[in-house]
Amino acid sequence: MEWNENGLLPLEWFKKMRRESPVVLSGNDDQVWEVFGYDDVKAVFTNHDIYSSSPFPDSEDPLEHSILRQDPPKHRQLRRLVTQAFTPRVVESLAPKIQSITTSLLDEAENKGRMDAIADLASPLPIVVIAEMLGVSLDHREQFKAWSDALVGNSGEAFNQCQREMSEYFAEIAEDRRRHPQDDLVTKLVEARIDNEHLTDLEIIGFCILLLVAGNETTTNLIASAMLGFDSLPDVRAQLLSDRSLIPGALEEVFRYFSPVQLMFRRVKQDTVLGGQELKQGQFVHIWMASANHDEKVFDRPEAFNIHRNPNPHLGLGSGIHYCLGSQLARLESKIAIETLLDRFPKYRRDRAEKLARMDSTMMFALKELPIVLT
Ligand code: HEM
Repeated sequence: MEWNENGLLPLEWFKKMRRESPVVLSGNDDQVWEVFGYDDVKAVFTNHDIYSSSPFPDSEDPLEHSILRQDPPKHRQLRRLVTQAFTPRVVESLAPKIQSITTSLLDEAENKGRMDAIADLASPLPIVVIAEMLGVSLDHREQFKAWSDALVGNSGEAFNQCQREMSEYFAEIAEDRRRHPQDDLVTKLVEARIDNEHLTDLEIIGFCILLLVAGNETTTNLIASAMLGFDSLPDVRAQLLSDRSLIPGALEEVFRYFSPVQLMFRRVKQDTVLGGQELKQGQFVHIWMASANHDEKVFDRPEAFNIHRNPNPHLGLGSGIHYCLGSQLARLESKIAIETLLDRFPKYRRDRAEKLARMDSTMMFALKELPIVLT
């Protein structure tokens, strides 16, 4: 069973690149390497001594000061600090909350008889969960959405503007929690110490911004892609309806097949050789997980959407020391969303009169809308 309507996933291009130029320079200035094969992508993810996650260490952008953009030893210290907020026990304890948010979003949709799966379910769900964890007001839900869109989009201007707005917003919240501690993540961050030093404002703000970006757009796209995939492949839907225990495996296949995050990047720290090419210190590397996830050397019939793949060693959540911190949360949110949807609307169907279109983002596989008829 295959899906690639209107060629929305660049699978043919990935295949060509894996075959003809698996590690290749792109653009005019010879500064960026594009990496397409599974083994090479994994090597870049796991060799953090050679490939730095901190491309712009001198930048004043808060996101550049977040855990995502740190190398060891700083990365290890920050990771230890925030891991406590994402232990399996903490994540599991969020299940009732996630369930009740999902139920109320679907109640609203049921009244209308139809929904845009993105605006009405897949986007608000993770936003509300993260806002709860951070301890920030839900009145800003729409604003959060606009910010996360801008942060993963292709417009540099919108990206900078939004980082400025988010910085002001979170600086105020951090200041408030210093004075009035609460039982939330921002309070933990302002109280945390590494080597007896508090985190800087830039680091705290960077982490908050990262959680919004890393947790929202990604999970939204995973849930929307799952709904799209299960609707497009009737046999898959039938199997999931008759056996709910297949849902987690099916979601892993969504991570692989659709790759909500299509690529990540690194900077070369020291001259090295990858796939027979000589990479020079200071150059950048685009690691195409979306292509690695369709590498025929690792995945049997990669263009088949197979919910029974076992093992399914996809790289959709990264690999190595930066492996997604929110992976269990993303899995739980999407499992609850899909289970509840299938329970209540087993015959939900996509409104095919509307043409699917991708958002203007190379980094994410994100649809603009996914109109659904609920029956
Ligand atoms: C479908 C959902 C998700 C996908 C596909 C995804 C993907 C990823 C990937 C690929 C990385 C590694 C980046 C790198 O190596 O440079 C990552 C890291 C990270 N993710 Fe996720 N993510 C998802 C959901 C979440 C959620 C729900 C949260 C938090 C609420 C989250 C928080 C993070 C954080 C904090 C990091 C940085 C970890 C570090 O640098 O050590 N992610 N994610």
